[in-house]
Amino acid sequence: MADGSACQSQEFPTPADLIAARPHLSWHAFDGLMIEGVPLAAIAADLGTPTYVYSEAAIRHRYAALSAALKATGLATQIRYAVKANDHLAILRLLGGLGAGADVVSEGELARALEAGIPAGRIVFSGVGKSRNELAVALASGLDQINIESAEELAELSAIASELGRTARVALRVNPDIDAHTHAKITTGRAQDKFGIPAADVPGLYAHAAALPGIKPVGLAVHIGSQIMTLAPYRMSFAVLASLAEEIRAANLPLDRLDCGGGLGVAYANEPAPLPEGLAGALGASFRALGVELLLEPGRWLVADAGLLLAAVIRVKDGSERPFIVLDAGMNDFLRPALYDAWHGVVPVGPSRGGPIGAADVVGPVCESADAFARGRPLPAVRAGDLVAILDTGAYGRVMASTYNARPLAAEAIVRGARWATIRSRQPLEAMWADERLPDWQIVSRSEAGEG
Ligand code: LLP
Repeated sequence: MADGSACQSQEFPTPADLIAARPHLSWHAFDGLMIEGVPLAAIAADLGTPTYVYSEAAIRHRYAALSAALKATGLATQIRYAVKANDHLAILRLLGGLGAGADVVSEGELARALEAGIPAGRIVFSGVGKSRNELAVALASGLDQINIESAEELAELSAIASELGRTARVALRVNPDIDAHTHAKITTGRAQDKFGIPAADVPGLYAHAAALPGIKPVGLAVHIGSQIMTLAPYRMSFAVLASLAEEIRAANLPLDRLDCGGGLGVAYANEPAPLPEGLAGALGASFRALGVELLLEPGRWLVADAGLLLAAVIRVKDGSERPFIVLDAGMNDFLRPALYDAWHGVVPVGPSRGGPIGAADVVGPVCESADAFARGRPLPAVRAGDLVAILDTGAYGRVMASTYNARPLAAEAIVRGARWATIRSRQPLEAMWADERLPDWQIVSRSEAGEG
């Protein structure tokens, strides 16, 4: 099941197990939970809570592992980081500096990637609903490739490119009708999903694309879902891609690259997860004979475990079944458990670590029962004011946050060795309504009310 939720019925990893499996985290007798060389309590003392904290070392480690696995295949490969997973400029800057390109899905993500210094020549534009304006902006930026999701979009792009006197390098995104066996809300490659072009239509549309003004088809793309925990669905989708590529080449059309998407799952609950070597092996087996360049668009795998959400206990409340540990972070700060029933480790930050209290429900302050981070979770005793860390929140964490219940957006910090820096200050309350205006008539009525 997705997101380690199968673990609800299995043995839970303990906080100690979770820390041991994440090399950038450690427990220090005097300082409590450390991220690299920095005590998390020190960051909380300075920035308050809730605060997202990221480890640069964790991201470097993941990037190096993926690059090495891809390099070992001897194939021409490129990593295009899926910006949606964490679009902070500091994360983009770090990954760009390591050599990553970017996979973007909006004008905003494109602007962020460029702002962080990722060259346009390393950027792919994906997404099922690129607007006319976004297509025009993308073309004007000179980016590397646009992934096309429908015949309708292809026609529109051709018209825009011709108007602008540009040529768009495009890949057609294939919908291979394959179930990635992940959470239903993040499965994208089944026929009923809104994404991609049905495989049967792809060769015809590719030939059509080659004849359209302003369009240069360069290859195919596929992305069947996120948090994929086995390689079998990848192999199946790669087989579809390889056979379509052969068919297209047999029709004497040029095809130089295949974009194999993202989706590699991470071990939120220390469960067995696919390794980059496995994915690299599947790429080699499927595509070596074709001699194409391969693109990958990983998001989560590169940044999830690097981040944690630091929160304080507001109070421990008695419950009918077990105590509620009420945190100052809510579903507005971190949505994954509420939206996907996702399992995330919750560990005490210390420095003192109490004895076990048995199972507790770890919840937020938001006025919805969905606002729960963990249920029935064995945790050491915590009291009001203690700190906890919600683990593996580097991907799809802060990017999915909102100000629901008028709760300001969390602060963010990043760590390198023994140094740390604030990379976003906590949103001031007034910033939440800075863009709001009252209509004239309300301003009038207020003064009328004052006169009456
Ligand atoms: N490429 C495309 C076209 C995508 O749509 C996505 C993710 C990726 C790459 C990156 O996938 P990743 O490697 O991160 O799995 N909010 C959800 C995940 C949504 C993923 C959407 N598309 C979550 O928190 O689980």
